Amino acid sequence: MKESVQVLFSEEEVAARIAELGKQISEEYAGRQVHMICILKGSVFFQCELAKRITVPVTMDFMSLSSYGSGTVSSGRVKIIKDLDDSIEGKDVLIIEDIIDTGHTLSHLLKTLAHRNPASIRLCTLLDKPDRRVVDDVQVDYVGFVVPDVFVVGYGLDYDQKYRNLPYVGELSFSG
Ligand code: IMP
Ligand code: MG
Repeated sequence: MKESVQVLFSEEEVAARIAELGKQISEEYAGRQVHMICILKGSVFFQCELAKRITVPVTMDFMSLSSYGSGTVSSGRVKIIKDLDDSIEGKDVLIIEDIIDTGHTLSHLLKTLAHRNPASIRLCTLLDKPDRRVVDDVQVDYVGFVVPDVFVVGYGLDYDQKYRNLPYVGELSFSG
């Protein structure tokens, strides 16, 4: 099978949208400190660019969860592979995701983190695929772009660990 990638959101479009999100977050968190939790590995590019556009004080931590194996279908099972380094008690937590698809990953994560007594938890995702949602308890506070039900790669998102380094978001297709 031959893989090809078609640009959905260019590097410039992504940068412009992240700047808007950064401005909005900075305004809404005025007078507070944002504790960004980056979900590895897909959110790394988004995390770095967004953090640079936030003007209130920022701290950050990283967490790794199991999601898809090497395929493109969600297992519905979520495991913590790497937990946070620091306590989130009393902090204004902003979870940074690359994409919300079925919502299983975030549904589990939100419940886990809520038990750790943060002051607040909000959710920010670069991409949202609402057509694919199967859980109803994931409220997304900040969305970069809504995408249709296609498999996307680039800007941190992978297919079989490839394509994360593309500077744009593209649709992956197969032929042959
Ligand atoms: P969910 O638990 O189904 O919401 O899946 C969330 C995770 O699945 C994301 O953090 C991604 O790692 C992965 N994922 C879902 N859709 C895509 C896609 O279109 N491209 C790449 N990864 C995806
Ligand atoms: Mg992910």
